[in-house]
Formats: sequence, structure tokens, C-alpha cells
Amino acid sequence: MGRQLTIAILAITVVALLHSTAAQETHLVGDKFGWLVPPGGAYAYEAWAETQTFAVGDILVFNFTNGDQDVARVTKEAFTTCNSTNPITLKTTSPANFTLDTIGEYYFIGTKDKHCGLGQKLAINVTAEHGSPTPSPAPKPSPAPRGPVTYVVGDDFGWIVPPGGEIAYATWAYGKTFYVGDTLEFNFTTGEQDVARVTKEAFESCNISNTNATVETTGPAYFKLETVGQYYFIGTKDKRCELGQKLAINVTANPGPNPSPSVPAPAPTPRGPVTYTVGDKLGWIVPGSGYAYATWAYGKTFIVGDTLVFNFVNDTQDVAVVTKSAYENCTTNNTIAVYTKSPVSILLNTSGEHFFTSTYYRHCVLGQKLAINVTARSTATSPSGSVAPSSPTTSTGGPGSAPAPFSSAPSKIGSGHFTLVLISMAAFFFY
Ligand SMILES: *[C@@H]1O[C@H](CO)[C@@H](O)[C@H](O)[C@H]1NC(C)=O
Ligand SMILES: *[C@@H]1O[C@H](CO)[C@@H](O)[C@H](O)[C@H]1NC(C)=O
Ligand SMILES: *[C@@H]1O[C@H](CO)[C@@H](O)[C@H](O)[C@H]1NC(C)=O
Ligand SMILES: *[C@@H]1O[C@H](CO)[C@@H](O)[C@H](O)[C@H]1NC(C)=O
Ligand SMILES: *[C@@H]1O[C@H](CO)[C@@H](O)[C@H](O)[C@H]1NC(C)=O
Ligand SMILES: *[C@@H]1O[C@H](CO)[C@@H](O)[C@H](O)[C@H]1NC(C)=O
Ligand SMILES: *[C@@H]1O[C@H](CO)[C@@H](O)[C@H](O)[C@H]1NC(C)=O
Ligand SMILES: *[C@@H]1O[C@H](CO)[C@@H](O)[C@H](O)[C@H]1NC(C)=O
Ligand SMILES: *[C@@H]1O[C@H](CO)[C@@H](O)[C@H](O)[C@H]1NC(C)=O
Ligand SMILES: *[C@@H]1O[C@H](CO)[C@@H](O)[C@H](O)[C@H]1NC(C)=O
Ligand SMILES: *[C@@H]1O[C@H](CO)[C@@H](O)[C@H](O)[C@H]1NC(C)=O
Ligand SMILES: *[C@@H]1O[C@H](CO)[C@@H](O)[C@H](O)[C@H]1NC(C)=O
Repeated sequence: MGRQLTIAILAITVVALLHSTAAQETHLVGDKFGWLVPPGGAYAYEAWAETQTFAVGDILVFNFTNGDQDVARVTKEAFTTCNSTNPITLKTTSPANFTLDTIGEYYFIGTKDKHCGLGQKLAINVTAEHGSPTPSPAPKPSPAPRGPVTYVVGDDFGWIVPPGGEIAYATWAYGKTFYVGDTLEFNFTTGEQDVARVTKEAFESCNISNTNATVETTGPAYFKLETVGQYYFIGTKDKRCELGQKLAINVTANPGPNPSPSVPAPAPTPRGPVTYTVGDKLGWIVPGSGYAYATWAYGKTFIVGDTLVFNFVNDTQDVAVVTKSAYENCTTNNTIAVYTKSPVSILLNTSGEHFFTSTYYRHCVLGQKLAINVTARSTATSPSGSVAPSSPTTSTGGPGSAPAPFSSAPSKIGSGHFTLVLISMAAFFFY
């Protein structure tokens, strides 16, 4: 997939020596958040797993509140469907340890109430033996030189106390490349938030009292990334940092021969049609953050003739093609087309903006929405013949269901956005 983790997640990873040669690692699932119904949905544990390398002999530790949570190892199918009927192993006492004793895929879910459906699920891939040469990661495309970029931290959400905790900004930074010369824009409401660049220690402890950090109090605040290295940012107000308003990034040199700020972004080169899997391996879900699909689309080029593939679990999502107004207002009762059977392939046969969401109740509001810009193919030969997606139907909308409470969520409110998102997630987050 060519994605790489570009920031250091603040995992406290305990490395224990086993015998004299092999190193056995302990992975604390969810780091300090532990094993809970994540406020950010299933994406939270996906993102966490991306930060880890699992080898045979390693131990997974699930830390949770006895009685409120549990953890079961299940089959892939049970994981996908959140079926807790016949788990391979069920552990009800924290900490629950699982030793990863073979190469392969492992699936874990919380079996209580609707916990799995709400995102308490973890899939990992044990790929190597300890001591054996680790398989070299898929060759990643060498980073391309480009002109400076201004990143709006958190995209549309800006710089807030994120509903998903600190993993939200880790997720945001995931897969992004930060070069010297780029700029970070922290968009926040003056008076409610602030931002300071701090040391790694202050970032980890959320304590800036013995540093000389300069606090930017007026939003939006801009930081130019002027040197190679790690940059740490936190909000200094109240408990903002503890609640997840913190960002760590790794800035690398622009590989361009002359990384001068005037280098224009490379013009898109002619290429054949591309098939994009929306959300990559996460597929088309109610994502952990409202900007997940904006992040996915960011930096991708869509050209007439390309195809979008939406993968989802039948009867839990659908794909609705909608107007811009419907996209913006999340009015999903007036769709252009609705496709209900996964996978859905949609040929992008016209240039311009295309908007997608799900008609299931509140999915759009919760972030299951995608907007892309399709540019015309430069050659005159545009592909003809639509790949018609499987039988468009009119969806009747998602099944209603009683809201389930979160077992854990930040208690302090950061901003209007955050309030809105947290409330909507707490009240309506279900598949
Ligand atoms: C930061 O990037 C540099 C250069 O790619 C790399 O050597 C270093 O390990 C990275 N650090 C972290 C914490 O990711
Ligand atoms: C497990 O969770 C409890 C309660 O949240 C916490 O006090 C404890 O430090 C956690 N253990 C680890 C290893 O993080
Ligand atoms: C859940 O799994 C059990 C056995 O593994 C199976 O009998 C049952 O039909 C499954 N339930 C659903 C809803 O798929
Ligand atoms: C689980 O692993 C942790 C960390 O290695 C350890 O402290 C704990 O004692 C283990 N618990 C059990 C029941 O093995
Ligand atoms: C796990 O890794 C194997 C080997 O690299 C790969 O074939 C498989 O698709 C991976 N599974 C997942 C869920 O990523
Ligand atoms: C910054 O936030 C304000 C208020 O939320 C919003 O109107 C504006 O569009 C945002 N700017 C950017 C660049 O996202
Ligand atoms: C923050 O650091 C200062 C100086 O090291 C220390 O006096 C203070 O107790 C720390 N505060 C907290 C909440 O840890
Ligand atoms: C803060 O600034 C003062 C004066 O410039 C300096 O003496 C002190 O060492 C600085 N402290 C830190 C932690 O950088
Ligand atoms: C959608 O929202 C915009 C403002 O965001 C408004 O101007 C427009 O009338 C709304 N459209 C519908 C159909 O409600
Ligand atoms: C869709 O719902 C909105 C608000 O509930 C309503 O104003 C609008 O008329 C509806 N549109 C259609 C086509 O039913
Ligand atoms: C969804 O339903 C279609 C048609 O019944 C089927 O072909 C497809 O395999 C199903 N997809 C999934 C992911 O279950
Ligand atoms: C598409 O491009 C236009 C012009 O650059 C821009 O105004 C618009 O916001 C873009 N839309 C999306 C969905 O990216």
C-alpha cells in the first residue's frame, strides 16, 4: 500500500529480553487508552495496529475494566460480523494476555453489548519470527520532490480536543510526508484553544511548566517546518493535551535535487485508468474521524476513466451518489443513486466534483462521506461504456437501533465541533 508511519506514536512499549537472543515484545493494546469502546470507532485500533510490528513470541496485553469489558479471540468471519457466539478464547479478567505463537492473522473483539459493532475490535498480522531477518517492508515509492505544502492540522476539524483522543492527530498525520519548507496551519478559535511547539518530554508529560515554549494564542497559527527532525505540538489550556490535543510529526528533507520553495508541484503525468479502493483496507465504514475520507482522498489524483471501489459489509452500509448540497447538509433522502451490494464499482466518467455518502441513519453526519474532484483526461480518447454498478436500488435507510453508551470518553469539552461530534458519536454511532 506504500503507506508508512511518519510519526512516532507515544506507545510505551515494554521490551523484555527473552533468553539471550530472541526479544519478546509486549504490546499494550491501545496504549494508555487500553481496550475500550473507542470514541473514534474501529479506526482507532486499526490505527494503533499500524504503529506496531508483531512477531511470533510477542504478547498482546488487553487492559480493561473487569465487568465492563472483555476480550475474545475470534475467527476472521466472526470479527467481520461481530459474532461473539463461539469465540476461540474469551478472557474476562484484565490484563488479558495473548501470546502470538504463530505467524498469521489474529482477530479480537469485545463481546459485550454492541461493543464490537461500535469499534472494540482489533485485527493484527503476525508476519515474522523474532531473530529471523525481518522481511523487508514492501518497497515504498521513493518520496517525490515537490513544492512546499501547507497542511491544515486536522483538516476541517482544525485544532480541537479530538473526540478520539490523541490517536486522532496521529491518524491525521499517518501517511503524510512532511518536508522542510512545509507549513502547519493550526486552525482554532482564539480564546478557546492555543498551540505550543514543545519538547518531546513536555509532549509526553503534557507539562510545559519548566520549558520556555512559546504559546501561540491567536488562531490560525502557522509553523514553518524549517529543519529536519521531530516536531511536537500541544494545546496548553486546561487538560487539552491530556485529552488528545497533541501532534507529533517527523520532518524530513525534501529529496528534490533543488528543493527550492519555488519548485511547482509536478504536473500530473499521463497514466492509464486507476482503480482506487476507497479507504484502502478500512473500506467504506463509519470512520473514526469526520475527516477520514478527506484524508484518504488528499493528494490523490482522480481522472476521468478511473474507478472507485467501495468495500463494505452488506446491509450495514450503502453507497449513495449525492449532490454537493446533499453532501454538505447530509440530507440523504434525495440521492442520485444508491448501491447496496458490496463491492460497488463506480466509473468516474465525468469531470468535476463527485460526492458520496451512505444513506444509513447518521452515517453521513458521522463522517462516512467522500468528495473528490475528477479532472478530464488530456487525450481525446475517453473511455466509453460505464461500468454500471450492481443494481441501483433505493435504500430504505439503516435499521434503527438503540444507542449504546461509550465506556469511556473524554470528559472535558473542547469546542463546539468537538461537542457536536462527541455527542453525535455517543448517541448514534452504530453500524
Ligand atoms: C524520522 O525520520 C527519519 C528520516 O526518515 C528517520 O530516520 C527516523 O527514524 C524517524 N523517526 C521517527 C521517530 O519516526
Ligand atoms: C490499565 O488501566 C488502568 C485503569 O485505567 C490503569 O490504572 C493502568 O495503569 C493500566 N495499565 C497499564 C499497563 O497501562
Ligand atoms: C455466529 O456464529 C455461530 C457459530 O460460530 C453460528 O452458529 C451463528 O449462525 C452465527 N450468527 C450469525 C448471526 O452469523
Ligand atoms: C500480562 O503481561 C503483563 C506485561 O508483560 C504482565 O505484567 C502480567 O503479569 C501478565 N499477566 C498475566 C496474567 O500473565
Ligand atoms: C498478513 O500478511 C500476509 C503475508 O504478508 C498477507 O498475505 C496477508 O494478506 C496479511 N493479512 C492482513 C489482514 O493484512
Ligand atoms: C478555520 O476554522 C474556521 C471556523 O471553524 C472556518 O470557518 C475556516 O474555514 C477554517 N479554515 C480552514 C483553512 O480550514
Ligand atoms: C510540571 O513540571 C514542574 C517542573 O518540573 C513540576 O514542578 C510540576 O509539579 C509538574 N506538574 C505536574 C502536573 O506534573
Ligand atoms: C529558559 O530560558 C532561560 C533564559 O533564556 C534559560 O536560562 C533556561 O535554561 C531556559 N530553560 C529551558 C528549559 O530551556
Ligand atoms: C445546504 O446547506 C447550505 C449551507 O451550508 C444551504 O445554503 C443550502 O440551502 C442547504 N441545502 C439544502 C437542500 O438544505
Ligand atoms: C429531505 O428531508 C428534508 C429535511 O427532512 C426535507 O426538507 C426535504 O423536503 C426532503 N426531500 C425529499 C426529496 O424528500
Ligand atoms: C453482498 O451481496 C452481493 C449480492 O448478494 C454478493 O455478491 C456479495 O458477495 C456480498 N458482499 C459481501 C461483502 O458480503
Ligand atoms: C474541486 O476543485 C475546485 C477548484 O479547484 C475547488 O473549488 C473545490 O473545492 C474542489 N472540490 C473538492 C471536493 O475537492
